[in-house]
Amino acid sequence: MFKNSAKWYDALYSFKDYQQESDTIVSLLRREHPRADSILNVACGTAEHDKYLSKMYSVDGIDINSEFIEVASKKNPDGQYFCADMTNFKLTKTYDIILCLFSSIGYVKTIDNVIKTFRCFKRHLNEDGIIVIEPWFVPAAWNPDGRVHMLTGETTDGKICRMNISEQEGSLSILNFHYLVGTSNGVEYFTELHELGLFSVEEMKETFKVVELSVNYDKDGLTDRGLYIARQDNA
Ligand SMILES: C[S@@+](CC[C@H](N)C(=O)[O-])C[C@H]1O[C@@H](n2cnc3c(N)ncnc32)[C@H](O)[C@@H]1O
Repeated sequence: MFKNSAKWYDALYSFKDYQQESDTIVSLLRREHPRADSILNVACGTAEHDKYLSKMYSVDGIDINSEFIEVASKKNPDGQYFCADMTNFKLTKTYDIILCLFSSIGYVKTIDNVIKTFRCFKRHLNEDGIIVIEPWFVPAAWNPDGRVHMLTGETTDGKICRMNISEQEGSLSILNFHYLVGTSNGVEYFTELHELGLFSVEEMKETFKVVELSVNYDKDGLTDRGLYIARQDNA
């Protein structure tokens, strides 16, 4: 879903303070799991968090998008990065911490897939490990009101503008992104369809229960989207 826009990702999200977010994550991890050493960043994107987290932890990552895996491996050369689907992946290692940030969990679209994803996370989690998930919007906070959203970005190669209107189909939020990219080769137009499941806090809490993870919900989180902090029921 980020196939065509992957190389512009960091420019489009340059407004995000990944360093500040990573500092907040480190404080949280020190409090929740002081002995933690290893992190798996699921849906790592271009590994902007890993760039900072890897100063303190050994960080690996997976993402469904091979373009991101290429960028991530360069940003955190000590980490191992794999192209994999979070609903169904199998690595040879287990981790103290599993992160899934910036609403990536929404991309699995359905609660059944969230259950599959959490089962995968559990298989890759050390016994005393923790899972930290930054969710997408809850249904009540999604407003398909026809408002136009726009992001712009710039690199040494050129400029990008992305526009969309918030839409909804049942429990899916629909973001049909329209891009204009200008480089010295000319101006290109393309679209990308992003569909993310809208899950309520109650649905998410119930899902953690189904897979036998105990969870705390912090409504503010890193960027006011909230944060789930889960661990094995028996830990
Ligand atoms: C909004 S981006 C967040 C990226 C990164 N965590 C960050 O904070 O910048 C969502 C990410 O989820 C990834 N993604 C979407 N569906 C996925 C799936 N089923 N398995 C693994 N990664 C997925 C996308 O490729 C993208 O990198």
